Amino acid sequence: MKNVATLDKIFALSKRRGFVYPAAEIYGGLNGVYDFGPMGVALKDKIKAMWTRDMRTSGKDIVFMDGSILGQEKVWEASGHTANFSDPMVDCTNCKKRYRSDDDGFNIEKPCANCGKTAWTEERAFQLMFETQLGAVSGSSSVAYLRPETAQSIFINFKNVLSTSRVKVPFGIAQIGKAFRNEITPKQFLFRVREFEQMEMEFFCQPDTSKKDFTWWLEKRGNFYKKMGLDQSRVRFREHATNELAHYSSYCTDVEYEFPFGWKELEGIAHRSCYDLSQHIKHSGKELSVFDEAVKESYVPHVIECSVGVDRLFLTLLFDSYREDEVEGESRVYLAIKPSLAPVPAAFLPLMKKQTAAFKPTFEKIRDKFPEVVFDETGSIGKRYRRQDEIGPPLCFTYDYDSDNDLCVTVRNRDTLKQERISIDKIEDYLLKTLAE
Ligand code: GAP
Repeated sequence: MKNVATLDKIFALSKRRGFVYPAAEIYGGLNGVYDFGPMGVALKDKIKAMWTRDMRTSGKDIVFMDGSILGQEKVWEASGHTANFSDPMVDCTNCKKRYRSDDDGFNIEKPCANCGKTAWTEERAFQLMFETQLGAVSGSSSVAYLRPETAQSIFINFKNVLSTSRVKVPFGIAQIGKAFRNEITPKQFLFRVREFEQMEMEFFCQPDTSKKDFTWWLEKRGNFYKKMGLDQSRVRFREHATNELAHYSSYCTDVEYEFPFGWKELEGIAHRSCYDLSQHIKHSGKELSVFDEAVKESYVPHVIECSVGVDRLFLTLLFDSYREDEVEGESRVYLAIKPSLAPVPAAFLPLMKKQTAAFKPTFEKIRDKFPEVVFDETGSIGKRYRRQDEIGPPLCFTYDYDSDNDLCVTVRNRDTLKQERISIDKIEDYLLKTLAE
């Protein structure tokens, strides 16, 4: 299917319909940082709930944790981030604009895109972690970092989780939480931002089975994107070349999505070997190996990691579901999101304001079961349909002139525009059936 979505259209719709706003907009915004509005929160919650459920029902033992965002300096020294987590950067000495020199489109042989001069600094490494000081006294002992990945809280709590949960290797620890990176050039809206959420799962396994486990998780994660309803012609797997691997990875395959700005990483699935646990054993002096009863030997588990950004997946879903068509000579924009992921499951529309009192009790009853349904009574019915289509409820229930008498409403399908008349007491079943699709 031809994709008509562009970054500008998605950005405008996100703001217009309360999905995403530039952070601190009334003060001019903050580069690479965004706030999520009511619809944004609803959509993010659906994405996170689906991922959580998919992990919990994966067929493997997966437990959840929620680690702190502030991380002690020693954690990041051990993990290798202090030394290795940087991007190559150059500055234009004329206009002072800063570039990531490994970015698509950047060429040091060419003049600065901002001022047209060729006056580059030497390429140097730019540390991506945000550093801060804890407490009132500054000094190296009070240095802390905002975590650039959630994974390290999992590794440093490996033994805590193992000894307090009824799990043993092989098992996974999953986490959804904020991560921060001082990206040199945040860009493409939510694609590369400085503050974002990650959904990460670290699967601890035996070294001998780790290759098989890696392949198993690749398939599992591919199925997740099918279940989300993403256009499969825009999803592919890409294995990393050796020179692309992060410092902790033995090998890695990205799930990529074809955005309007090209094929880009959506999720990284990495074999982290025993790198992280071994580093923390070395730096903390604590025992993080496990004992294998079968062979009576201790070993450090290997780790398969599945890591995807909530914000990046959110953007992917907007691109993937954005549609334009024409209805009765007027152009229409709608989000064809899978019904169970739609931020609003259904909208309730009284044809005229004076029908609000008659329809509100039905709406309130349904809202007790489906809390995100909305009641929309302002503007012409055509305008309300357009407004709702841009948010993406799969169904709109309209109370009209005949409803008082026949106790029926009209239900309109977002994608097919088909309208049916159904009894008011069948609304709940109708909605349930649609959300199960
Ligand atoms: N723990 C492994 C890790 O953090 P990564 O490839 O750097 O690996 C994992 O990040 C995922 O987090 C990416 O695939 C992407 O979805 C998301 N992500 C990373 N940096 C991001 C950024 N600056 N803005 C938005 N999402 C980001």
